Amino acid sequence: MPSQPEDPRGKDAGPRPAPITELPRRLAYLELDETDRQRLHELAPLLNSRADAFVETFYRHLFSFPETAQFLQDDELVARLKKAQQDHLASMLEAEWNDEYVAQRGRVGDAHAQVGINPQIFLGAYNQYLQFCSRELCLGLEGESLACAKRMLSLQKAVFLDISLTLEAYFHQATQSLRQALDLVYQANAELRQFAQLTSHDLKTPLATMANLCDEALDEFREQMPEEAAELIESASKRAFRMSATIDELLHSTMSLHSDVPRDVVDSGLVMDETVELIRPLLKQKKIQLNVRGELPHVLGDRARMREIFYNLLSNAVKFSDKSDGRIDVDCTLQDGDCVFCIHDNGPGIPADELERVFVPFRRLASHRDIPGSGLGLYFTKTMVEQQGGRVWVESEPGSGSRFYVLLQQAPPPA
Ligand code: HEM
Repeated sequence: MPSQPEDPRGKDAGPRPAPITELPRRLAYLELDETDRQRLHELAPLLNSRADAFVETFYRHLFSFPETAQFLQDDELVARLKKAQQDHLASMLEAEWNDEYVAQRGRVGDAHAQVGINPQIFLGAYNQYLQFCSRELCLGLEGESLACAKRMLSLQKAVFLDISLTLEAYFHQATQSLRQALDLVYQANAELRQFAQLTSHDLKTPLATMANLCDEALDEFREQMPEEAAELIESASKRAFRMSATIDELLHSTMSLHSDVPRDVVDSGLVMDETVELIRPLLKQKKIQLNVRGELPHVLGDRARMREIFYNLLSNAVKFSDKSDGRIDVDCTLQDGDCVFCIHDNGPGIPADELERVFVPFRRLASHRDIPGSGLGLYFTKTMVEQQGGRVWVESEPGSGSRFYVLLQQAPPPA
């Protein structure tokens, strides 16, 4: 597996300080307070009355650069933008710094990112706005006051130049980190595919032999063995055949990790019954009580994958169960057209700092190192759930168990 990139701050650097994201912290960091709000309100009448003049100057500037004019080819769009920008700048002067204010700024960023307006162009627009406002405010000034205001305007331009140059370095770094992360994902994916191809063949041959040996033993000695032993051998044989089919399915799903699978109406109750039958010997062995509460719904999904998902989650719950009175409860709740299955065990649970890793391929939890497993089961589970348009997540309380949730779309009622 590729190694993780090292933290550029050095090996022993602690956790990164959280960015300032809360609005009150942002305001505090900028020292933007009530006095500023008051002053902005005082500016608003003059600046709003000059809003038309600003957009005219602004658009002359934008049209004089091909880099910005390219975004403004349509008169209707320009008219809409002028209005949107005027409203936006007016709301800045209203200075109602609340959630809606934040959300609106986010929408502008999203809209710009979508059409390809980069931060340099956006910052340049604010520079234009500040230059315009400063000129308007300085109209009555003369002498040293005017000279001082002009110096401030030049300083402002230099500051915008610096900000835009430096921001580019931030974006460059962010893009590089993303590229590195993507490379790691592609590499891991390629290795995973190779691993799946190589191991599927090696696993299927001994499985077929095992299944045949079980069948032979039953054919030859069924009469001489207790019924219970015959049942166990039969169940081992079924499981071996099913595992072989599962390996084919998993290989297929690994090869088409991002493709959606066709979705049919599947009776999840039946799939759950089949799965429970498969793990019954394991439940018996560890004396675990399994309860499926209520009737499970019909969902839109892929039957084979659903069986595998249930099998992975149930067999994990059994495998890691550490209590003498082991319990697994399964239920499903309906939420706005979705079915949320919950598989709840009273096993050892998962520590909070390991929760995020449980679905990562080959990442085994520290506490599970001694228990056999490939570290792929939950990764495949997640992949298969997502291929069916669903979601899987886990909640856990160390010491008293875990709840694995699988969300799948509810099937529409029969016509
Ligand atoms: C002071 C700077 C600017 C402000 C305050 C601003 C404001 C806005 C707002 C409020 C929207 C609508 C967002 C939404 O969908 O809710 C928007 C969208 C957009 N802006 Fe800006 N903008 C600025 C600079 C620019 C510049 C410099 C350009 C082009 C050179 C530009 C081009 C666009 C475009 C193309 C859209 C998408 C419009 C659409 O498809 O409807 N903006 N902007």
